[in-house]
Order: sequence, then C-alpha cells, then structure tokens
Amino acid sequence: MFKTIALIFFISLPTFARQAISGNRYQLLSGVRKQKESIQFWDKKFAGEDYLYGKAPAKFLAENYGYIPLASKVLDVGMGEGRNTVFLARKGYNVTGVDISAIAVRKARRLAAEHGIRINAVVSSMEDFKGEKSSFDAILVFYYVDRELNKKLIEWLKPGGILIYESHTKKQKTLAGNEKYEDKYLLKELELLSMFPDLRVLKFEEPLHRGEFTSSIILQKPLR
Ligand SMILES: C[S@@+](CC[C@H](N)C(=O)[O-])C[C@H]1O[C@@H](n2cnc3c(N)ncnc32)[C@H](O)[C@@H]1O
Repeated sequence: MFKTIALIFFISLPTFARQAISGNRYQLLSGVRKQKESIQFWDKKFAGEDYLYGKAPAKFLAENYGYIPLASKVLDVGMGEGRNTVFLARKGYNVTGVDISAIAVRKARRLAAEHGIRINAVVSSMEDFKGEKSSFDAILVFYYVDRELNKKLIEWLKPGGILIYESHTKKQKTLAGNEKYEDKYLLKELELLSMFPDLRVLKFEEPLHRGEFTSSIILQKPLR
C-alpha cells in the first residue's frame, strides 16, 4: 500500500498562527520521507487540540475566491486541518479536501461541524488520489509543493477551470530557523509564472514586505 514516496512540505506558519506560537516561529518542517513516515510526521504535528495553521483561510484565498465559479466543485490538495476547505464550503462550494493525515482530516471535519456544514474529506496521499479527468472547476494548492503532481492537477481541472497556488519562496530561508529548508519544497522567485505554461495567468503576487516570503498565483486552464 505504501508504494510511493510521499513528499513532506515545509510550511512556516502563517502570520496569525506564528503570533500564537512565538519562540517557535519559523520551525522547520521539511524533509522527504517514505509515505508511512510522512503520515507519522504529520499526525504528530496535528496531534494537539490547536489548529496549527489556524481556522481562518489563507488571506490570498479569502481575497480571491471570487475567481472560482459560484457553487462549483473544488479540490483542496493537502488540505491539512481544513481552513481553506471549510471556508469555501461555507461559501457554498462543493469542496473535496484530501490529506495524508487522518488526524488532520478529522480536525477538518470537526471545523466543518463547528460551522454546521459538511465537507468531502478524504484521507489519502496525493500520489494515490484518483481524480477524474476534467472533474474540478477549481483546485487549491496551499503550501504543498510537489512539482511532480502538476501534470495531474491540470488533467483534473475542467476546461476553463481555476488553479490557485501559494507557497514560500527561497527567500524564506533567510529568516532565522529556516536555513535548512530544502530548496525542492521552495519556489524559486517568479517560478509560479512559468510552472504551468499551458495555463493563463490571471493574478500573481510575490510580496516582499509581509515578514515571510510567499508567492501566489491564480491561473486558468484554456477552454480548448
Ligand atoms: C503545510 S500543510 C498545508 C495544509 C493546508 N494546505 C494549509 O495551507 O493549511 C501540508 C499538508 O500536506 C499534507 N501532506 C503531506 N504529504 C502528503 C501527501 N503525500 N499526500 C497528501 N497530503 C500530504 C500534510 O498532512 C499537511 O496537512
């Protein structure tokens, strides 16, 4: 069952979460592990009662979800504890969140229940997830850099579908505690602009003034 290598992604904590976990602000979470180790690694990270990345959605998503057609079908890749999945579900989207950590998925379901809604929450590695071709109106990829998955993401998108992608750039390594952050889990500066050459760029942001170094993009799959 554990046939593929699972990728672990470093995520430095979003600003709101980091405020709550000072002293541990830019903890390094990266590394490549076998899938079984990946599950153990993330289950341990998510074991506490707190929501590691908070319950509020990523700012870029909250500001830009209007790019996604109303009430449409969305996939959240590596959804973690569900902050983005639940946000979109509350807005009326039909969201499927996938994560390798059963603990994260349980917490995502709990967050949905707190808001009186249900989400489609799947415990699976993305390597094993069987998305159907042209089945999603939008796909979210937040702090989950696996370039080998990119081809599948495009396949799973419907023509005209929207891809929203955000993660850290290599500049993040300049922040104390992040020095050993592995390059393969970081985006090169401006890399997102050329990562999906067949998709149309609708919006791109790579701010240098927010205390952490992120790159965010919204892309659209051509209609034909
Ligand atoms: C840094 S977290 C980001 C969570 C969420 N996207 C967010 O922004 O709050 C990365 C997530 O990827 C999940 N993950 C790691 N390897 C995975 C894999 N191979 N397949 C599916 N999920 C995976 C982890 O369990 C974790 O929840």
